Amino acid sequence: MAVRRLRHDVVDSLRSGAVIATLAQALEELVLNSADAQATCVDCSLFPSEASVVVSDNGTGMSLAELSTIGERHVSSKGGGIAGVHGMAMGFRGEALASLAALSHLEVSTHDRSTGKTWTRILQRPAVDETFESDRPRVAGTAVAVRQLFAAMPVRRARLVPSSELAAAVRVLQRMALALPHVSTSLRCDGALRATFRACSSRRRAIAQQYGEETASRLRRVQARSACGGFLVSGYVGLARSSNDAQLVFVNARYCKRVPRLVSAMRRATDSFLGRPGPLGTRAVLPAPRGRLPAIRGASGAAPGSRLRQDDAGVPVAVGPDRACIVAVLDVECDPSRYDVGFDPEKTVIEFDDWEAVTGAIVASIDAYFLGWRSGSCDSLASATGRHLLSAIATIR
Ligand SMILES: Nc1ncnc2c1ncn2[C@@H]1O[C@H](COP(=O)(O)OP(=O)(O)OP(=O)(O)O)[C@@H](O)[C@H]1O
Ligand SMILES: [Mg+2]
Repeated sequence: MAVRRLRHDVVDSLRSGAVIATLAQALEELVLNSADAQATCVDCSLFPSEASVVVSDNGTGMSLAELSTIGERHVSSKGGGIAGVHGMAMGFRGEALASLAALSHLEVSTHDRSTGKTWTRILQRPAVDETFESDRPRVAGTAVAVRQLFAAMPVRRARLVPSSELAAAVRVLQRMALALPHVSTSLRCDGALRATFRACSSRRRAIAQQYGEETASRLRRVQARSACGGFLVSGYVGLARSSNDAQLVFVNARYCKRVPRLVSAMRRATDSFLGRPGPLGTRAVLPAPRGRLPAIRGASGAAPGSRLRQDDAGVPVAVGPDRACIVAVLDVECDPSRYDVGFDPEKTVIEFDDWEAVTGAIVASIDAYFLGWRSGSCDSLASATGRHLLSAIATIR
């Protein structure tokens, strides 16, 4: 068989399908672009049955020259390469818009700060690529419309489930609201307002907005270091009732969408302290807490019935009205060589070289919360040494 180079459009479609798999993921890429463009206000509109999403921001906007590069693969203003991966920007591959241009009808309208003009570019491959000065000027920022996602890929299109896209999109904005408290976001679905997150002065306020004042009042600041010293974990931990979408980890200030091993480690530690066997087979070490725990206002709104299911990170979890769950928003600091964010096409998925060390430090931080909680003191110094991790320190303050 002769060796041939694959056609450009074949490579493009294979690669694009790997980068974007759902409508909510398309929305997430657009929201992350808005965040990278220093937007403080991001409005999203979802049209699940049309497989379309529009994200509008008040960020930096783009010049005409920058707009003309949209749709080209590996074109980015964000450093790029492995050095860019460790920078503050969420984007580093220069792939998201190129993939969306290959998979959908793309329309980008942007305010060019240098000229004050608003440019619109419409890309409908292969026939249409037009750029013109918009007759609807923007005051600032960019609006990106992705229409008819997977129009040319009927199997992918058929796999989109409109109802799950809305729930997944709400989760994207919930995570963004915790990751970037200073950014306000909103989500409409078929024109109806479904979620709003106001800009907040701190992460604690952002947690209060999402999970309620009662949960926020139970939050404690924790800190733990892994035995080898390579991973420092700090952030907020508290208890709430039910739901399971309240565990968020940042690694060197990068927001990570899925870190199932860390999430299951947090839940194991929680189950263990709350004295339930839990779905993960942990041992009871403490009696269950007295009193009612506050409910979390999850994406679905309703308190789920008791049952076992997998969450969106693939972690098995028991959900039910009385289930206590851990609210944890944690920062992991470590040497950038200890992890890889380019491991998976979804760039918010992360792999560590030493999972045991990082999960140990995470568990130690949860331990610190519970040890302080049991002693009734928020100011106690709790040593997590022994139970999960030798020579870890964990404090509650
Ligand atoms: N909302 C926006 N405001 C301003 N510039 C934008 C916006 N969206 C995209 N851009 C510009 O378009 C470029 C390409 O975006 P794209 O999302 O394809 O790549 P990226 O964000 O650099 O990397 P990644 O593929 O990892 O997301 C960005 O680097 C940025 O310069
Ligand atoms: Mg991007």
